[in-house]
Amino acid sequence: MTQAMTLAANHDAATTAELDARAKAILRGNDRGGYTVPTEGLYPYQWNWDSAFAAWGFAAFDLDRAWVELETLFSGQWANGMVPHILFHREDAGYFPGPDVWGAGETIPSSGISQPPVAATMARAIFERDPQAGAPRMAPLYDKLLAWHRWFYQHRCESGACCITHPWESGRDNAPDWDGALKGIDTSNVGPYTRRDTSHVNPDMRPTKRDYDCYITLVQFGRACDWDEAEILANSPFRVADPTMTFILLRAHRDLKWLGTTLGHDTTEIDGWIAELEAGVESLWNDDVGVYDARDLRSGELAGSPSNASFLCWYAGVSSPKTEARLARILSKVTYGVPSYDPEGPLFDHMRYWRGPVWGMMNTMIGMGLADAGLTDLATQVRDDTAALIADHGFAEYFSPLDGTPAGGGTFTWTAAVWLGWASPSAQKGA
Ligand code: DGY
Repeated sequence: MTQAMTLAANHDAATTAELDARAKAILRGNDRGGYTVPTEGLYPYQWNWDSAFAAWGFAAFDLDRAWVELETLFSGQWANGMVPHILFHREDAGYFPGPDVWGAGETIPSSGISQPPVAATMARAIFERDPQAGAPRMAPLYDKLLAWHRWFYQHRCESGACCITHPWESGRDNAPDWDGALKGIDTSNVGPYTRRDTSHVNPDMRPTKRDYDCYITLVQFGRACDWDEAEILANSPFRVADPTMTFILLRAHRDLKWLGTTLGHDTTEIDGWIAELEAGVESLWNDDVGVYDARDLRSGELAGSPSNASFLCWYAGVSSPKTEARLARILSKVTYGVPSYDPEGPLFDHMRYWRGPVWGMMNTMIGMGLADAGLTDLATQVRDDTAALIADHGFAEYFSPLDGTPAGGGTFTWTAAVWLGWASPSAQKGA
């Protein structure tokens, strides 16, 4: 039994029913009417992958609300198929950079980049809870998902891997994966701006000033290109193939194909996308570090970053015995797995966002993949660690893997959602 499992077994301060009720109250409390904010204050808009997890969490107790979440997300889809990473439904001065900085959006003001496409996977899970009631909701959503996945194929897939044009697109903003690619970015013209994130959260848990200068410089660059993908592809200083995106997209293609087949569509186009990613994902294997790694497409160099993105391989249906051993080793080094960066790596920082902390929704995808692959012991360990973490330390955005200290935003939507959908003992009974 791991230390985390012992903590979970001994936990009697809050019963499963109480935790389930708290998780539901968080989703209801973060509901802004048709969409859910990740958390009050720090993230006051609709974020793409957060929303897909929120929909999945709602599905545990309110299927209609689950569908509405996805429908609202796709109401911001661009004509070219892209689904933005943020939809700015209502102005909020507490967040930077807001809609005035991005200068983007069609039906709704938005950011100009996307985010990991977990929506098809969550849509399938929601649909499977009640296929009959879900069919009229799924049919129009399928076409929108297909258009989004086609956009990824056309604008983000290179040499079989899926790339990002901004660290925010990966959702793993300050992961060491991007350090090398960001190094060469000239931020001297970024101009003055005021960060708002550090007024909500301890700056030691957030990206650095240099990181933000790069983030804002890249937003300014995209806007200067009028968010034209061809121009961004030709001239952006940042283009990195990302294991998170690649594995999540591959899994999402498989779930989209399942949905298409179930709804009676021809899915030949999706088969082609799957085959390309299956072959291409191996271009991200870094034998020196023993992980699936990010690759800077400008220089061709691998990042050398042992991150938790590597452990999404099973979620994508990719088997990797070497990665099993690596995960087992990392889990033995921390109280609560899975840290976002190897604790034995030189850049490990247990409280700083994507440079060490544990994220519940990453654990969920890792755990689901392990279970699908029949790696039951590891799957159970990841789920038990996550359950213990939430039961003992609450519904924070992320946590220290060393002692569980909650970090980032509190009462966090996706932490509540993954509790309800996967980590809670009541979800396990239904699983
Ligand atoms: C932020 O503002 O921290 C977000 O991660 C951007 O998506």
